[in-house]
Amino acid sequence: MNIMEPEGIKKQAYDEIETALNSADLEAVRLKYLGRKQGKITLALKELAGMSVDEKRKNGPFLQQLKSDIESAISFREKEIGEKGAVIDVTLPPKKIEVGHLGLITQAEDEIRRIFEGMNFSVIDGPEIEEEKYNFDSLNIPADHPAREMWDTFWLKTEGKKKYLLRTHTSPVQIRYMERHEPPFQIISPGRVFRYEATDATHETNFHQLEGLMIGKDISLANFKFVIEEFFRRFFAGKTVKVRFRSSYFPFVEPGVEVDVKLDNAKWLEMGGAGMVHPNVLEAVKYDPREWQGFAFGFGIERLVMVKYGVPDTRMFMSGDLKFIKKF
Ligand code: PHE
Repeated sequence: MNIMEPEGIKKQAYDEIETALNSADLEAVRLKYLGRKQGKITLALKELAGMSVDEKRKNGPFLQQLKSDIESAISFREKEIGEKGAVIDVTLPPKKIEVGHLGLITQAEDEIRRIFEGMNFSVIDGPEIEEEKYNFDSLNIPADHPAREMWDTFWLKTEGKKKYLLRTHTSPVQIRYMERHEPPFQIISPGRVFRYEATDATHETNFHQLEGLMIGKDISLANFKFVIEEFFRRFFAGKTVKVRFRSSYFPFVEPGVEVDVKLDNAKWLEMGGAGMVHPNVLEAVKYDPREWQGFAFGFGIERLVMVKYGVPDTRMFMSGDLKFIKKF
């Protein structure tokens, strides 16, 4: 230190004390100026010892004052840092802001929509609170029909002749659409459905289905096979897809089938039900079954997503587990 320029030293020390952000910074400043061996002020005071009495008188008090000024500045800053915890460093990069995103099921629904729109299907919505008439009766499932047991139902209130429920499948959208439109057409309707049943890895009380319906003059199961294979091929892009039908029963189709899919060399997996729309259903919406026919299908969207992304448990979609949500 040049003891002839104590003012410059003082200013520099004060600057460094003021910009110290934590006690480690501050300790470094203290060592730099007041350290017992290398401290600038300490060295200057040692130098002073070898000087003449006149020079000592001239510089001594000044240096002593400087030393105590720096000491008190440091202890003042120490307190400041202690109070604030850490001092805000405006030069630090900011914390990343977390932005949410659409859930996996919504993303899948969007993708499904795009694929079917690409095949000239329209996307139709329907209510989650349904009437018994749409969820059951018009679908050829009268009140005393044992097949009602296929759908464990959350019943809501009855108003006059209307019995309300949470829809157990997306099939009522078929009826609502046909009531208001003339064929030919082809639609899908993805959406939320509800079942009053125990949950496990493959069952939830609350899940999503993809309904499909195509009505025309000479639509057959062969048309369905083509459409659904094309859908699977696009949805499970990059895999070889095989589709097979097993005969099955749903009151609103005849014949009814279960649709299985085989991806590459994996096992056959069941994806949902389908079939040719039952003449009773066509009659319920005042279509002439001798003139019009078509296919309908209903798949579980969770099921499609579980197979596509290897999700092991359907309850994960409703768990709110951030680790799972952030993965997709
Ligand atoms: N609605 C049926 C179910 O939920 C699925 C289905 C739809 C079957 C259309 C055939 C035709 O189980």
